[in-house]
Amino acid sequence: MGTANHGYAQQAQEEVRRLFPGAAFRYLAPAEVFVMEFPVASAEAVTTLRDKEPIFLRHIQPVDAELEAHGDAADIEALMNWAQSLPASRFAPGLPVAVHVRKPDGLALPYANADLRAALQETLAQQFGIEPVVRGAALIVSVYVTGDKLYAGVSEPAHNLSDWPGGAIRFQREDEQISRAKFKLLEAEQRFGLDLSDFRAALDIGAAPGGWTSLLLERGLRVTAVDPAALHPSLLGDHKLTYLRKNAGDVRFAPDSFDLLVCDMSWNPKQMARLVADLLYALRTNGLAVITVKLLHGKAFQTVREVTAAFAGSLELLRAKQLFHNRDELTLLLRRV
Ligand SMILES: C[S@@+](CC[C@H](N)C(=O)[O-])C[C@H]1O[C@@H](n2cnc3c(N)ncnc32)[C@H](O)[C@@H]1O
Repeated sequence: MGTANHGYAQQAQEEVRRLFPGAAFRYLAPAEVFVMEFPVASAEAVTTLRDKEPIFLRHIQPVDAELEAHGDAADIEALMNWAQSLPASRFAPGLPVAVHVRKPDGLALPYANADLRAALQETLAQQFGIEPVVRGAALIVSVYVTGDKLYAGVSEPAHNLSDWPGGAIRFQREDEQISRAKFKLLEAEQRFGLDLSDFRAALDIGAAPGGWTSLLLERGLRVTAVDPAALHPSLLGDHKLTYLRKNAGDVRFAPDSFDLLVCDMSWNPKQMARLVADLLYALRTNGLAVITVKLLHGKAFQTVREVTAAFAGSLELLRAKQLFHNRDELTLLLRRV
């Protein structure tokens, strides 16, 4: 089963079809969640999807069993029976196991996701002695509930592309949070396996109101924030911050001033790419760039091609991913060459 951000399932399926010509899809939640059938064994499909991770495929989970559902308490019973029939060899006593239960938005059922989760956790704990956990699981039992079916499977978290239910990664909202945009950089940090505190000096282009800048400062970096709009006043006293209240086209730096460049300008992608390309002399060789790219309607792949082409020879594309916190955009990780 695959999940994409709402409205991007078609793009995810297109990418999967390029990897597996002949793959077939059917939707469980419109434009978002779908079952995939591959012309190869599922283990091979998972390996390929991990190695060549599609941009728009946020999460995958196995469908080991497709159980009939009737929208009543018998569904819980059916799931518990399935759990009891799982091979004991997969569930050592004390093994940390997470149960993820999802259903399409708006589907009303007489039981809550939490009821199914609790019933499954209890069954697995009694049957195999596993330790139910929310995070840090060694195995995930995933269930997707529709009105007439229960799709259930067991996998290692790494085989799901994301270890959050449906890839919907959640961060704690802070009282003093400057912008929701901060979650995008937090998610990029996790998803791309970065440790932002490894960097020393960052250039933040299109920084206001300052969510990304605040995260970089929290990670201990010196930050140069460029934006004609106002940064949040809470940032202004920070001695590690240089704030240039200017258009990115009007700033100049000494060569190799930064080892990290971030840009979240939410602007026409071609113009954004041109502005960033003009500032790349200031990013050291091997320095990294995290850049969000706004997706113009219906032109997702063309936009990615155009933006990466604009960086050819100066930035190597390491990852491209539509993150859970991206709306009509995706996030690129690039390396200065
Ligand atoms: C989505 S917001 C950035 C949010 C920010 N990352 C945060 O975490 O708070 C986009 C910003 O890009 C800025 N921007 C747009 N065009 C720009 C340009 N040519 N030069 C500098 N900043 C620009 C806008 O003023 C706006 O503040």
